[in-house]
Amino acid sequence: MAQTRYLLTEKDIPRQWYNIAADMPNPMKPPLNPGTKEPIGPQDLAPLFPMSLIEQEVSTQRWIDIPPEVLDILALWRPTPLFRAHRLEQALGTPAKIYYKYEGTSPAGSHKPNTSVAQAYYNKKEGVKRIATETGAGQWGSALALACQFFGLEAKVYMVKISYEQKPYRRSLMQTWGASVIPSPSNETEAGRKILAEDPDSTGSLGIAISEAVEDAASREDTKYSLGSVLNHVLLHQTVVGQEAQKQMELAGDYPDVVIGCCGGGSNFAGLTFPFLRDKIAGRDLDVIGCEPTACPTLTKGHFHYDFGDTVGMTPLMPMHTLGHTFVPAGIHAGGLRYHGMAPLVSQLLKDDLMRAEAFHQVECFDAAVLFARSEGIVPAPESSHAIRGAINEALKAKEEGKEKTILFLLSGHGNFDMSAYDAYFSKKLEEYELPQEELDKAWSAIRDLPAA
Ligand SMILES: Cc1ncc(COP(=O)(O)O)c(C=O)c1O
Repeated sequence: MAQTRYLLTEKDIPRQWYNIAADMPNPMKPPLNPGTKEPIGPQDLAPLFPMSLIEQEVSTQRWIDIPPEVLDILALWRPTPLFRAHRLEQALGTPAKIYYKYEGTSPAGSHKPNTSVAQAYYNKKEGVKRIATETGAGQWGSALALACQFFGLEAKVYMVKISYEQKPYRRSLMQTWGASVIPSPSNETEAGRKILAEDPDSTGSLGIAISEAVEDAASREDTKYSLGSVLNHVLLHQTVVGQEAQKQMELAGDYPDVVIGCCGGGSNFAGLTFPFLRDKIAGRDLDVIGCEPTACPTLTKGHFHYDFGDTVGMTPLMPMHTLGHTFVPAGIHAGGLRYHGMAPLVSQLLKDDLMRAEAFHQVECFDAAVLFARSEGIVPAPESSHAIRGAINEALKAKEEGKEKTILFLLSGHGNFDMSAYDAYFSKKLEEYELPQEELDKAWSAIRDLPAA
């Protein structure tokens, strides 16, 4: 019988995070103070983040130790399994070998707890009592609620309104882990009130919810802010994924030709690909693909430019691929991919041609997700379905070319709380949204006078 699962034991959980900043051919430009346009210092971030996370944010040290208290909690579900997708390969009739690393085995059902646990730990250690955050699909909010529960912290989650309505059980999950959750835009912050005054029917966006959570944290002594993606320290915490995958590929006696992840803010993509990109930077031939929705095509149609991380313009300016912070994506079901910007680390790697990007429509992603569920069993999160689409396309290309190819992708989460999205797909209510060029032009014109990256 051909082997299907490649499993590691608790002692194989990586003991260090991998910081790709140590190996990048071109260093990233620093974030800027939005007022002075000068590089920000650690003190500028201190109202929002604990100092240990700020240190990680600016670190160029290649390996950073994972604290034992964090490892103890990661051990509840790590290492996660790596599968060989024999049945999907057969369904596609491809000569390609397809492997996937599965992060849906965490209690929250995605890769997000890899960083929420680390972030909650450092906040607790520095005396923080309460954390404010935003959530799109609800995955990040659940992950932070879980981590805050483990470390005895209060969690306040601003949930993008359209997801709050589409995913009521994600909300219940957060409440089960003790968090308080409100739909964003809300009346509880200046930022939320401003958006509602302009558009009372706003379905919200990650950018708006970030503005609310940042304002909440900045206005309270006992509260810090936590972000589930984009920032360097978040991507750093996810690198346990790729390090495990490397060991598991070794167990399989293979090495990928193509590594694929979906991209919202870039954290699961980074988690899987950064340890492999280290090999690529050292000379290995490797195709690395980030997959995103055509409704929010940050990497494929965005500009590499300084921009705000939030909609209202409260955060430092970051050098990244961006559609413009005023861009509000259509209400596609992959809520976690509806973000106007991209992690500066991922953006720099794209700029330096170390990776490439592809964009897919949501219907073709659900086609891929359903084929995957019918062959491999697991029902994927709508976000993850973009990586599956990318992997299937590569496998079909290999079939056309008659090439044996080894494909590895990250299944970042399960879709067990996303059945309303599958319902919409089966009842043919999913819209094939075409993003008008005017919308892209409008959002770009709002940022073109910000500093060039
Ligand atoms: C399952 C899943 N995958 C991917 C993402 C996208 O985020 P990121 O690009 O930071 O991994 C999310 C975000 O909520 C998610 O829930």
